[in-house]
This record gives sequence, C-alpha cells and structure tokens, in this order.
Amino acid sequence: MQIIKLKTATACFMMLMTTTIYAQQVPQLRADNIDDVLKAMTLEEKAKLLVGGANKFFSSSAVVGNEATLVQGAAGTSPEIPRLGIPATVLTDGPAGVRIDPTRKDDTQTYYATAFPIGTCLASTWNTELVGRVGEAIGNETKEYRCDVILGPGMNLHRNPLCGRNFEYYSEDPLVTGKIAAAYINGVQRQGAGVSAKHFAVNSQETDRTGVDERVSQRAARELYLRGFEIAVRESNPWTIMSSYNRVNGEYSMGNHDLLTKILRDDWGFKGIVMSDWIGIRRGLTTVSEVQAGNDLMEPGQPAQVQEIIAGVKNGHLDIKDVDRNVRRMLEYIVKTPSFNKYPYTNKPDLKAHAAITRQAACEGIVLLKNNGTLPWNSQFSTHNSQSIKTVALFGENSYDFFSGGTGSGCVHPPYVVDMLTGLKNAGIASPETMTDIYRKYIEYARVKFQAERHPGKWFQQEYFGQQKYPEIGLSPIAIEREAGKADAAIITIGRQAGEGIDRDITTEFNLVPEEKALIMDVCNAFHAVGKPVVVVINSGSVIETASWSGYPDAIICAWQPGMEGGNSIADLLTGKVCPSGRLTMTWPLAATDHPSTKNFPLNDDLFSFSNMKNDGRPVPGHDFTNHEEDIYVGYRYFDTFGRTVAYPFGYGLSYTTFDYSKPTAKVTGDGVTVTITIKNTGSMAGKEVVQVYVSAPEGQLEKPVKELKAFAKTHELQPGESQTLVMTIPVRLLASFDEANSQWLSEAGAYNVQIGANIADVRATAQFKLTKAYTEKTSNALQPKQKLNVLRQTK
Ligand code: BGC
Repeated sequence: MQIIKLKTATACFMMLMTTTIYAQQVPQLRADNIDDVLKAMTLEEKAKLLVGGANKFFSSSAVVGNEATLVQGAAGTSPEIPRLGIPATVLTDGPAGVRIDPTRKDDTQTYYATAFPIGTCLASTWNTELVGRVGEAIGNETKEYRCDVILGPGMNLHRNPLCGRNFEYYSEDPLVTGKIAAAYINGVQRQGAGVSAKHFAVNSQETDRTGVDERVSQRAARELYLRGFEIAVRESNPWTIMSSYNRVNGEYSMGNHDLLTKILRDDWGFKGIVMSDWIGIRRGLTTVSEVQAGNDLMEPGQPAQVQEIIAGVKNGHLDIKDVDRNVRRMLEYIVKTPSFNKYPYTNKPDLKAHAAITRQAACEGIVLLKNNGTLPWNSQFSTHNSQSIKTVALFGENSYDFFSGGTGSGCVHPPYVVDMLTGLKNAGIASPETMTDIYRKYIEYARVKFQAERHPGKWFQQEYFGQQKYPEIGLSPIAIEREAGKADAAIITIGRQAGEGIDRDITTEFNLVPEEKALIMDVCNAFHAVGKPVVVVINSGSVIETASWSGYPDAIICAWQPGMEGGNSIADLLTGKVCPSGRLTMTWPLAATDHPSTKNFPLNDDLFSFSNMKNDGRPVPGHDFTNHEEDIYVGYRYFDTFGRTVAYPFGYGLSYTTFDYSKPTAKVTGDGVTVTITIKNTGSMAGKEVVQVYVSAPEGQLEKPVKELKAFAKTHELQPGESQTLVMTIPVRLLASFDEANSQWLSEAGAYNVQIGANIADVRATAQFKLTKAYTEKTSNALQPKQKLNVLRQTK
C-alpha cells in the first residue's frame, strides 16, 4: 500500500516537473515577450498564423482554424495557437456597424447591431468629433459582440458616381476622406477594438474588381487615391489595413511590395498589419509573394496557403526573415485585441444609447439641396404656410421600405428601421391611409414575388445581401389628386440601392426612371394646384441625376442611407428640431457622363460580361484594366478647373439660418499655415456652419487644379447672433503636389490664395500667404505605370 502511494506521488511530481519545464520552454504570449514567443514557434505555427482561420465562407475541412472561435456571421478570424497562448481574433464587417447574424439556431437571444449612417452620410457631417463618437459606438458594439476588428472604414475615393460601393466610402476628396476616416478609426480604437481601413488601394469600381488593373499615374495615386489613407495612417494608427482585390499598375495589391511596403511602411511609417480582402488563394499570385510584399494575413485563408508558406521557406523561395517579420507584426496586433485581453463581452451593447448617436449623426449628414421656403414645417421658424402641416401624403415605395444602408458586406442587421411613415408619426404628423395601404400591400407583394423569382446562383439576390429595390408602382393622377385633397403636403421618396460586386447603371440607377419622373410631376401638379408643398427625399447611398426634375418640388433633401433611425432624423430636419448642416462631399453632375472618368468606367451594358472584349474585338472599358486618363482631375478638381456646370457643387448644402464670414487671416507659422476666421450666425435659428478652406497654389513647375480643399471645420451650434472663431492649420506638406520626376512632394514657393467658402462655388472670404521657399519631401519611387497614360491636362 505504502509502495503504491509512493509510486503515485513520484508520478505526480514527475508530471508536475514536466509541465513546469514545458511551460518554461513554451512561453505564453504576453505584450512583453513577443521575441520569446517568436523563437518558440515552429515553422508550421508561423505559417498558420499568417493564414486566416475559421470564417463564414469555407466549411471546416477547408479552414485553418477552429470554427468555435468565429462569431456567427462575422467575416473571419486570425487563427489560434493554443500551445503558445495565442487566441483567435474575430474580424467582422463593417463599416456602417457590426455585421453579424442577428439570430442563432437554438438560441432565443438576438444579436442585432446598430445600423449607423453609411460612409457618404457620415462624411457629409464634416464633423470629426461626431464621427469619432460614431466610431466609439461601433467599437463598443464590436467588442461587446466578441469581435476584435471592424472591417472598415471604407476609404476608396468616389472616382465616379457609378461605383456600387460609393455609399461605403466618404468623398471624391482625399482630405475629407482622410480626416473623417481618422476620426472614425480613433473612435473605434479608443474603445480597445481595431479597424481595417479598406480597400488599399484604388478600388474605385466593382465590375471585374478581382481582376482589373487600375492604371494610374504616380501623381494621381499619391495625391488622390493614397492621400486619404496616408492621412489616416499618420493621424490614427489603424491596427490593420485591408489590401484590395484589384491590381494597381500591374500588381495585385496583396502582392504589391511598392504599395504595402515602400509606400505604406517606408514612406508613411505604418505599424499595423495588412490583411488581404476575402479571396484566399488567388489565381496569378503566390502566397509566397504576398508574404514578401508585406501582406501579413491571408483572408479568409485556406490550408493550402499554410503549406505554400512552409514549402517556400524549405525550398528557399521565401526567406524566413520575411515570415518572421510578418509573424511579429501579427503578434503585436494580437496582444492589443479584446480577445487576447479577455474582454468580458456581454452580447448586449447599449442599442438605445447608440440609436441616439446614429439619429444625431444622420441629422448632421443629411443635406438640404433645395428649399423654396417651405421648410421647416410646424416650427416657430416656419413661414406662414408651413406652420401647420398635420397630414403628409407619402409617395414612393421607399417611404415605407426605407433604406438604412446599402448591400453586400456593408449591410448591417439592425433591430428595426424607422421609415418615413414612422418618423413623421413620431413627430406628430399623420399620413392618409389610402397611400399607406397601397404601398404596404405592394411592398409585401413585391417581396414575395422577388423571393419566388430570385436565382439561387445570384448572390446579390440572396437575403443576406441586404434590402432590395423594388420597381415603383404607377399611380393614376386621380389617386394623387385625391391625396392632395386630404393631406397638407406631400413627400416623395426616391430610393436607390447599391452595393458590393456591382456598379450602378446610368439609365436605371443614376437617372430617374420614367415612373419616378411621372410620380414627381403628377404629385407636384396635384399638390401645387391646391397650394400645397412637395418635398423629395433622396434615399440613396450615392449621387443621382437631379437637374431634369429639381425645378418641380419645393424642397429636396438628400437623406443618403442614414442608418436605422433614418425616418426620425429626417423628421427632425423637416420640423426644424434640427437645422440642416450636412454638406456634399462630392460633386453632383448634370449627367453621369460629365465626369471624365465615365469614359473609362465599366458601363451597364458590360455588367456581368466577363469577357474583356466587345463583339467587335475592342476591349471593354473598365474590364481587365482601367486607364485613369482624367488623372488628378477627379470630382471638383475637374469641374471647378474646367469651368463645367454642375447640379450641386462640392461642399454644397443649405441651412435654415444664415452665416457671416469675417475677414480671415492666413499666417505661415513653423511648418504650417494657420487660417483664422470668425463665423457669425446672422439668422434667427440656431445652427452649425461648415467652413471650407480652398487654396490656389502659385504657378510653378507642376500644373494644378484651380483650387483644392486644404482644411475644414464645423462650428458648434451657434445661437442667433453668436460668433465663433475657427483656427485651422494646414501643414505645409499638405499643400504639396506630387512631383513624379523627382519622387517627391513639392509645395512651391510663392503666393497662395486662400478662399474660404460655404462650398467650392461660393467663396465668402479670401486671404493670402507666401511660402518664401519651396517645401520638398522625398518619397520612394513606387507604383510606376507600365503603360503610357494619355492624361488630361489643362494645356495640351
Ligand atoms: C469585401 C470586403 C469585406 C470582406 C469580408 C469582401 O468581399 O470586399 O469589404 O470586408 O469581403 O466580408
């Protein structure tokens, strides 16, 4: 008996010793022992850490990780390595809120997330403090739902209004893009969750997005497509960046050493990780070259990629130093995450508090495009005719089936969406029952019909893709006239849906279709005949044609896709509870073809045709490659410089009050220019003003747009008669143009004109400053185009 006990004790002691020695030899990851962990890793573990783990796209046999680590509906993970105490981290879309499955099998709890305003709406607030608060709320929901990284912000430039994902992006201008993104990122990361700023880079179209070669000059790349990312990297240190699907000047982004290492890391000092957009093994590129280029994490990741990395090191094609460098960056990222820090997530974020934030953010992002004096309604600030609007007839199917956001990976599953009907009702405004009845029944019918007819192979028709746009119904003028008899005013909602994988069509999506135009005409005729106002609400993530019909309604509100509180936000503006202060972050052209980039944009007749040649043998524009012939003349840089008429200029938006701009000053101080101006509310209602600082550079070696946005600020809510002095600093390096010949940024010496405006076409005050000597900043010589581009110039 004694002997048995002794033997058991010895065995226990030996086991304990072995575990202790093993634990000593196998370090468990901490923030301060990354070197030790790296040393202890086998080649297989290193390779594994560079390839995405469990994800929602492949079944378990095809994934590297443990499926239990994934949050249901999240996009993917980085894999766990339990032997070294390395947890999986969870990556979720993004960017307008946390995109996870709202319900789970055999689980009564729900997992709805707040749908915040989409990118264009957020940017249109021009309010970095407010966007920071939205970021905080999103960061909070990310970690409360056991996720680590939100796959956003979307930072591609609105090169052309037809891009299907413009709704996720901010602007045609890189400064707005960079500043708004930095505010969002800082907000998320203040919560201890991470972001993945995407899609790096030049992912300005959806058609052929996994194949297209975006051919762009070094100058346009640096000044426009990369500048926003540069600002965000420098001002907010994103934990991660997502490399895009497309090629840039011949190389796929995820294998593009110039982009991911020379520019991102060497020139800008980026310290985080780069993960690929969700393609896994990509034809035409090896995983080895992605590791070498500096793409640290392959998403969503497949086991064969792990084997490829191992084989690459063994056969000498891949230097273990490159692997170690990326693994180190992965470890540095992992120790920051909520999963690593064992954040006690609740699965119960404060959706009520976040609803208040999204409501306010949407209010500030919605842009009042036209107001003949009818708005606001029912307010002390209303004109005589608008003081008592008790009943509003609602036309357009999206009044009742309101779009809170777009489709694809950018679509969020909110607990509810406040449509126009509900928003008005909450504000004490009723709607006659006939229209409500017609539209409700129609939408029900359209939904069932769509479901019955959708093609199982067309992913963009599936439920998870998001809300669909149904055709408008024809209403006879008699029905409309009857409404004009019953209601005090009319609202027509013009809805547009768009999203991932598909660009927009000019005839049916950018332009209004005949049924919509007829609806606007008929409603305006009927209501105006009895002296009642008509408001058009645009419920679209991006720009539509307005010039042909904007003369008819009394007011036009661009509500974008303003998140789940949309109807309430719009009602706040209609009733003057909030004074509109949103401003456009992109030009609204008269026609889509007015943008010079449309010439090289894949147009509707090319959609889903994956052959790169037209029947007559000519290449299809925007397939296989896209030439950026408009070069630096994107958006207002083109319209303003070339004197083209537009529907609404960049920066445009109306208010219910008026503002006076003082005489500004502009002083060169150290390495920046300080612009100071005082803004006074001269109207009778409290409101905020967006102050935009445009700068014209002196003539020098490089041709430049007539003027470019170099700073902006939004006032706080100014009471009538109240003033605020705004001080804005422009770093001299942000005045620069990119000098390709010398691979450098160049701010030329000479006199600069500062034009401060309410939009680019409405300059209210001017000042001058002088740079006595040129500023230069060397960069790497990266992303040289492989073909000559026939770029647009003012003087040819
Ligand atoms: C999209 C990304 C998204 C990812 C994960 C891709 O198809 O382009 O924006 O984050 O899927 O869902």
